[in-house]
Amino acid sequence: MSDRVSQLASQLNYPRGLLAGQVAIITGSGQGIGAEAARLFAKEGAKVVVADIDEKKCKDVADSINSSGGSALGVPGDILKRDYVDSLIKKAADFGNGKIHIIVNNAGYTWDGVIHKMTDKQWDTIIALHCTAPFNLVRAAAPYFRVKDGEPRNIVNISSTSGVHGNAGQLNYALAKAGVTGFTKTIAKEWGPAFGVRANSIAFGHILTRLTAAKEEGAFVTGPDGEKIALGIPIKQKQAAGDGAYADIPLRRPGSATEAASSILAVASPLFSYVSGQTIMVTGGRNM
Ligand SMILES: NC(=O)c1ccc[n+]([C@@H]2O[C@H](COP(=O)([O-])OP(=O)(O)OC[C@H]3O[C@@H](n4cnc5c(N)ncnc54)[C@H](O)[C@@H]3O)[C@@H](O)[C@H]2O)c1
Repeated sequence: MSDRVSQLASQLNYPRGLLAGQVAIITGSGQGIGAEAARLFAKEGAKVVVADIDEKKCKDVADSINSSGGSALGVPGDILKRDYVDSLIKKAADFGNGKIHIIVNNAGYTWDGVIHKMTDKQWDTIIALHCTAPFNLVRAAAPYFRVKDGEPRNIVNISSTSGVHGNAGQLNYALAKAGVTGFTKTIAKEWGPAFGVRANSIAFGHILTRLTAAKEEGAFVTGPDGEKIALGIPIKQKQAAGDGAYADIPLRRPGSATEAASSILAVASPLFSYVSGQTIMVTGGRNM
């Protein structure tokens, strides 16, 4: 093969897309918004590390990306565990030939209760999941972000309208998701000047996943001590809202997981190269 032909051939094989050649860790990407983000990132040329506590779903998402021409590595485990966080970073760096470009801190769930009935366990778990775990991950990833190799680096932290506006019954979650904002801005200020790292939060409104489905559908997660934590919104609460459920959303509908994930891709992409330290509201216009 002539030099010119082999040059063209290598260009054809080179990953293409908004995230071509970048290595991304997406936590909680076994289902819901994170899984959609993993698929979209892979379509845009990223090598995706699928990280989730649900081993089977984690593997299924990675397999489906690999079998459709993308590149993914499933690393199952509990983001609340320090040794898992360390091994996740190590495996991601090995997969990325020594580089990690993007972290999406997305893993999470709600464990609701009114203030006077909220237990210490509910409080501690939700703060640990949405604040301490992302901190552990970002700190462990520091050697891969505090670099000057001319390649982009960015961190996207998933927040919620509950963190921006508060939400009755979600004191733990509202505090944790509000914390994500300060966490994000501090990363942007510490790692932006010398290393060009961007950090942004995305606050979702009502997105259709098991977190917002009817509680009676039976979805649950297993808490740190093996407790069963039911997910979703009680049908009674949904019925009480009736036709007015989306009345305060200018687009008059909830968002899909794909729409939510698309906003993560947009923020992580070079199209947002001059956006850092922001909380982007993905809510259909709710709470303007
Ligand atoms: N769905 C919404 O309306 C909405 C609104 C605002 C914010 N959010 C946030 O978006 C993020 C994604 O939520 P979703 O709606 O896609 O939920 P989801 O339940 O569909 O997906 C969350 C994923 O996180 C994983 N996960 C949970 N705990 C984990 C742990 N300890 N270690 C590793 N993985 C873990 C779950 O297994 C699951 O696959 C969450 O941070 C959530 O708080 C969602």
